Amino acid sequence: MPSNDSVVRIGRGGGPRDTLARPLHDLRISVMDRCNLRCTYCMPRETFHDRYRFLKSTERLSFDEIVRLSGLFIRLGVSKLRITGGEPLLRANLPDLIGDLTALRGMQDIALTTNGTLLTKYASELKAAGLQRVTVSLDSLDPEVFRRLCGDFDELDTVLAGIDHARRAGLAPIKINTVVQRGVNDDGVLDLAGHFRGTGVIVRFIEYMDVGNRNRWEPGLVVPSAELHARIHARWPLVPRDRRYAGEVAQRYAYADGQGEIGFVSSVSQPFCGDCSRARLSSDGVLYTCLFATQGLDLRAPLRAGASDDELLEMIAGRWRTRADRYSELRATLRSAAAREPKVEMNYIGG
Ligand code: GTP
Ligand code: 5AD
Ligand code: SF4
Ligand code: SF4
Repeated sequence: MPSNDSVVRIGRGGGPRDTLARPLHDLRISVMDRCNLRCTYCMPRETFHDRYRFLKSTERLSFDEIVRLSGLFIRLGVSKLRITGGEPLLRANLPDLIGDLTALRGMQDIALTTNGTLLTKYASELKAAGLQRVTVSLDSLDPEVFRRLCGDFDELDTVLAGIDHARRAGLAPIKINTVVQRGVNDDGVLDLAGHFRGTGVIVRFIEYMDVGNRNRWEPGLVVPSAELHARIHARWPLVPRDRRYAGEVAQRYAYADGQGEIGFVSSVSQPFCGDCSRARLSSDGVLYTCLFATQGLDLRAPLRAGASDDELLEMIAGRWRTRADRYSELRATLRSAAAREPKVEMNYIGG
């Protein structure tokens, strides 16, 4: 039991700072490590096959456990929450969890990252439960490229219908995450931008990253955002937009003709670790302080062993205070070291 003066200070601005003075503002919770797609860069079929051992339901945090931990994270400074997977909409009764999280005092922004295949079914229910907005992963509008990238599923029309349902349900602003790989889907970038221009949907092009251990990343597959920006700007002139908050992941641009916004996530060519205030919680309750972490802190065991709020707060704050992660800034050096110790997988920790 920590003594009273070791209990972390509470409230915005008073939360823990890591070794680089970065606060904890943003929590991303994976609620399900399974997915109904098999994107080649995230869950390649040769690894994530029929006999792959995903988490059992008892291994996953329950909704009550997630809500309790979220409340504690809020006390440490978190005001922004993102629900991720795998595919979060595979988790039974997800809208119930959203409802409970929205009710937490101090939670200002709750979003969900999904592959969109189940949005037609759930969009209205999610909205009714209090979800503000969704981000949908969509890498191509070409049915053949889409099929190849997502592991041989003909789901493009389902995803587009899902986006439409989300729009009608008012889950706005809808964002589209497009991971761009050279020679794979980069020739579809203008199509994607053009398709969503003027619709209110914001497309963000993401530089392909070496997350996990199985996606056969190589630098040659990365298309720097500057190159994509030049291509799009030549077709539809772009004007930069101010950052909305310190540590914003995407660089935002408006179409000069007023037809909306797009973004670029340049974590390879212009890493943004300096402002990174994101923590990630896996579906079995392990806290990771970087997308590229090799180790995490198990919160489920103490949670299930009856730890008090103060004890859990102290564990989380203590871990945050020792954080020194800046993988993207040190990629070149860390890649060789990281190759020896497996990194956490994307389907397990979310994006
Ligand atoms: P908004 O709240 O809408 O601004 O969302 P966001 O941009 O913070 O979140 P989103 O999950 O949509 O981020 C887009 C993509 O950026 C993710 O899918 C990741 O590929 C990448 N990304 C997000 N956070 C990080 C991060 O902390 N480090 C790195 N290297 N990449 C990240
Ligand atoms: N590089 C960049 N982004 C990725 N995502 C998944 N794998 C990668 C990668 N290797 C993104 C997906 C999705 C989110 C969960 O993470 O596009 O939007
Ligand atoms: Fe599923 Fe998203 Fe991973 Fe694709 S990127 S396999 S949709 S979790
Ligand atoms: Fe944050 Fe790690 Fe991404 Fe850097 S690489 S921005 S420290 S999650």
